[in-house]
Amino acid sequence: LVIVIDFGGQYNQLVARRVRECNVYCEIYSYKTDLEKIKEMNPKGIILTGGPNSCYEEGAPTCSKELFEMGIPVLGLCYGAQLMMHVLGGKVEKAEVSEYGKTEVLVDKTESKLFKDVSEKTICWMSHTDYISQIAPGFEISAHTADCPVATAENADKNLYAIQFHPEVLHTAEGTKMLSNFVLGVCGCAGDWKMDAFVENTIKEIREKVGDGKVLLALSGGVDSSVAAGLLSRAIGKQLTCVFVDHGLLRKDEGDEVEGVFGPNGQFDLNFIRVNAQQRYYDKLAGVTEPEAKRKIIGEEFIRIFEEEAKKIGAVDFLAQGTIYPDVVESGLGGESAVIKSHHNVGGLPDYVDFKEIIEPLRDLFKDEVRKAGLELGIPENLVFRQPFPGPGLGIRIIGEVTAEKVRIVQDADAIYREEIAKAGLDRDINQYFAALTNMRSVGVMGDFRTYDYAVALRAVKTIDFMTAEAAEIPYEVLNKVMNRIINEVKGVNRVFYDLTSKPPGTIEFE
Ligand code: XMP
Repeated sequence: LVIVIDFGGQYNQLVARRVRECNVYCEIYSYKTDLEKIKEMNPKGIILTGGPNSCYEEGAPTCSKELFEMGIPVLGLCYGAQLMMHVLGGKVEKAEVSEYGKTEVLVDKTESKLFKDVSEKTICWMSHTDYISQIAPGFEISAHTADCPVATAENADKNLYAIQFHPEVLHTAEGTKMLSNFVLGVCGCAGDWKMDAFVENTIKEIREKVGDGKVLLALSGGVDSSVAAGLLSRAIGKQLTCVFVDHGLLRKDEGDEVEGVFGPNGQFDLNFIRVNAQQRYYDKLAGVTEPEAKRKIIGEEFIRIFEEEAKKIGAVDFLAQGTIYPDVVESGLGGESAVIKSHHNVGGLPDYVDFKEIIEPLRDLFKDEVRKAGLELGIPENLVFRQPFPGPGLGIRIIGEVTAEKVRIVQDADAIYREEIAKAGLDRDINQYFAALTNMRSVGVMGDFRTYDYAVALRAVKTIDFMTAEAAEIPYEVLNKVMNRIINEVKGVNRVFYDLTSKPPGTIEFE
């Protein structure tokens, strides 16, 4: 285990992901975590992340000197590096020239363990306004840049390393190698944390925990709940019941795809209950145009249906959820950055289901790891690499009133868009893309006839965290082809727009 101590930096989760890419398991904890607790976890190494503060200011996040005296290797990154120097007797000051962006780093100590197999001149991502003006006693400078005398420093005897730049971001060309040198070379981690082992161990743990109990899972067809279903099914078979509510606001053919994988003819052993609630939703949504009202109806109806099904099943021992590690960190339980996504869980915790305990088999995994686990379990790729899809589904991609006809239009347009994006090889490049149906009808001409039809909006964004985003640059030919196909193949559409708005001010979804 490696512990990542979070000082509020924007790349905190990235640090943990990179460490795990070295097949070393790590967890994120806030800098406020008690040192005793950290000692108890007996980590092989500690990494201090970056953060927005200046370590010499009063009230800035800090750590005790003892952290560096436990004999556990410590790597400080950016703020973490400055803090290490500050706490151990070096000096940190505001820099005259703050560095931002790709910077050439010159390695002074090529024999440093940190720089094993790293080039002597290497490109790194700098982002700092303070700098280390004086290293702490016992340290030596191991790399510098034109503007920064201490790009890295180390006290090799004590296994303490400080890096001013950000090895965790991909712009640092050899960053992963440096992190791997630290966790494998300095900390001596085995590097044997692999997904197949995770899957096997988790299956064992689930069996032990559940015994002969019954587990209920709401399966949405999204990546997380699908992988949770796969794991639970492999562990306990028919003791697992999955309720899949088809609310008629799914993407084209999605309901049947989910049933194909998890239903009676699929590859998993479990009780699969599909509730075809399409009409029920359309009835409830008839005449409703206000976005929040729509969201509320969709969420509440889901609860009602799940409740009805749960009643039929009776008391269960466990309620399973597809919570993943970023959910844990973002809800303030793991790291330091408390970004709370309130609207992202349809309905919240169901108090209407009679269960004793929650079980969350994916709680320790990042999204890319969940996907790897999914592949390991034999869940088809199209499901594992599925686009993020909001709980209220197409309900918030149809502006204004939702009707069965509008659902058909947006499903067909979206299917064409996704097909063409995949054909152009852009599907894993763009973080989220979909078609939405605007509430606008306009006049057009088709053949010799006047049309008065809907306009479809295409959305595609690049984003790291979905909190901010930019419109993706899709080649014009691809957009043109999508437009042509939608106009010709989807009845009821006579115009296609591409949405260039970034977030903020736009959101990714339309409602
Ligand atoms: P916005 O529209 O807020 O979306 O920029 C950010 C990300 O969150 C997804 N999203 C949701 N996911 N339930 C969900 O599970 C929701 O109600 C919801 N609303 C937005 C959206 O698809 C995007 O990935």
